Amino acid sequence: MTLREAVLAALKEKKGEWVSGEALSESLKVSRTAVWKHIKTLLAEGYEIESSPKKGYRISAPADLLSPEEVWPGLATKVFGRQEYFYYREIDSTNKRARVLASEGYAEGTVVVAEMQTAGRGRRGRSWFSPANQGIYVSVILRPLLPLKEISRVSLVAAVAVAATLELELNLQPRIKWPNDVLIDNKKISGILSEAVTDMDGVEYIVVGIGLNINNQIQDFPADLRTPPTSALAEHGHPNSRIKVLQGLLLHLENYYQQLLAENFAMTLDKAKSLSMVIGQEVRLDTVNGFTLGKAIDIDDSGFLLVRDQEGTIHTVMSGEISVLPFNSGK
Ligand code: BTN
Repeated sequence: MTLREAVLAALKEKKGEWVSGEALSESLKVSRTAVWKHIKTLLAEGYEIESSPKKGYRISAPADLLSPEEVWPGLATKVFGRQEYFYYREIDSTNKRARVLASEGYAEGTVVVAEMQTAGRGRRGRSWFSPANQGIYVSVILRPLLPLKEISRVSLVAAVAVAATLELELNLQPRIKWPNDVLIDNKKISGILSEAVTDMDGVEYIVVGIGLNINNQIQDFPADLRTPPTSALAEHGHPNSRIKVLQGLLLHLENYYQQLLAENFAMTLDKAKSLSMVIGQEVRLDTVNGFTLGKAIDIDDSGFLLVRDQEGTIHTVMSGEISVLPFNSGK
C-alpha cells in the first residue's frame, strides 16, 4: 500500500469522523507534512476532505470517482475491467485511447474510463458532451470470434446491456432507438459508439464506447443536440452513484456478451425488440445513399433493422440514422 492509499484508507475507516493530523502521522509513521502532502494529492484527485486546524481531517462525502480503487471493490465481472483498467481524470476520447490499446494488442475486456473527455466522439462525426465527474465515459475492447455478418449483434448487445443497467441500477424505464441510442421518455440518456477493425478473417477487435448521463443538470447540455437529453439526476431529482452504475454496466455488458459468444443471442434479440421504440413506427431512414420513408417492422437475427418502404419493398438496414416520424399511426 502506498502512503497515499494508507492516508485514504485511514480517512475512509473513520466514515466521516474527524481524525487528527497527529494521529495519522503516528499510525502511519510519517511526518505531519507528509500526511498533508497526500491530503493535497487526494483533494486534487477530487476527494472531498475537510481540514480544520483543531480537529484534523475528515472525508466528507464518499468520493464518486471511477478510479480502480473505488470501482474494483464492488466489481463482480470475471474479465471486463479486472486485468487492465485504464483510468484518466481527463482524456480526449476513451474510444480513441482504447483503439490505440487494441492495436497494441491489449486483451478483450480491457477497459478505458475517464472522468472527463475533451473530444468525446459520437456517431456520424458528432461530439459527445463529457463534463467532469458527471457522466460515465467508458470504452471496452472486445475481440469476438464472429463472422463479419454478425458484427451488428455486438451493437445490440451493448444497447441491451445499457438498458438493463438503467433498469436494474437506476430503476428507469429505457427504450432503445435502433441501433443503439438509449432514451427515457424520448430523451437521450446514453449513446454508444462501436468501432470495429476487421480483416479478411473477420473481426480483429471492436471498441464499444458508452456515454451515460448520470449527474448532469439539463441546463448544462449544449442547446443544439439532435435529440433532447436527459440524465439520471434529471429523472430522479437526486444524484446517483456513478461507481455503482459503472459496476453494473460492466457486469451486464459482460453477461450479454458472453451469451452472444455462447450462441445464445435469441434472448438479447427479444429484449432489444421489446425495448425498441422504432418497431411498428413510421420512420425516416438516412443512410450514405440517401433517405427512405417507411415502417420499421422488425430487427432480424443479425441485428439489422427491417424497414418496409411505401412501395412495399423491405430494406435490410445495417447502419444508418433512424428518425421516428411525428403523427405515427402506431399500427
Ligand atoms: C452517440 O450517441 O453518438 C454515441 C456516443 C458515444 C459516446 C461515448 S463516451 C465514451 C466513448 N468515448 C467516446 O469518445 N465516445 C464514446
